[in-house]
Amino acid sequence: RVPTAVLISGRGSNMVKLVEAARDPAYPAEIALVLSNRALVPGLVYAEEQGIPTAVVESRAFKGDRAGFEAAMDAVLARHGIELVALAGFMRVLTEGFVERWQDRLINIHPSLLPSFRGLDTHARALAAGVRLHGCTVHLVRHGVDEGPILAQAAVPVLPDDDEAALAARVLAEEHRIYPAALAWLAAGRVRVEGDLARVDAPGASASLAN
Ligand code: GAR
Repeated sequence: RVPTAVLISGRGSNMVKLVEAARDPAYPAEIALVLSNRALVPGLVYAEEQGIPTAVVESRAFKGDRAGFEAAMDAVLARHGIELVALAGFMRVLTEGFVERWQDRLINIHPSLLPSFRGLDTHARALAAGVRLHGCTVHLVRHGVDEGPILAQAAVPVLPDDDEAALAARVLAEEHRIYPAALAWLAAGRVRVEGDLARVDAPGASASLAN
């Protein structure tokens, strides 16, 4: 099983789903570390309760020194023998250096159907744009924010009475479904990267995750 770190900044509900999936001994990734850039967040408490190794590298302590922050993270990742990194609500933008060091071994979940709505406040922006479909994307991380080869997406309807919270909850349920699947594909070596595209060699990899 591939030693994997999950990087969080807060609630950590996606991390919980990865941990739950990895309880199955047949799951190809092992969650060997939960790393947060903020102390005392709910996700860290959960991981500690589960007996998963945790670490905090406080981004606040590295104000204006992103390279220093990432060097500290890299040291922790190396100490835990990490081979794959899954960003799960990790709210710091990573430098090109970090992204290149972890090229094709670094994935992210984003709460929109990329390439629509990169960045923050995706649900409010989807409502403001009047889109009828919204969703989430798991992708390999590249230098541009929320850019990189797509591994999995799931779509949900936007309903007439939706507010931000209702839409976010509908999307989050899909995040919890596709993230464990996408991490498994990557850990199992089923992802082939061809330029800007990722090809996934897994049964139903494109169809089964669409609603
Ligand atoms: C999730 O919706 C995730 O997609 C989003 O933050 C939330 C974290 O929730 N990520 C981003 O917006 C990344 N820019 P969680 O901590 O409960 O997994």
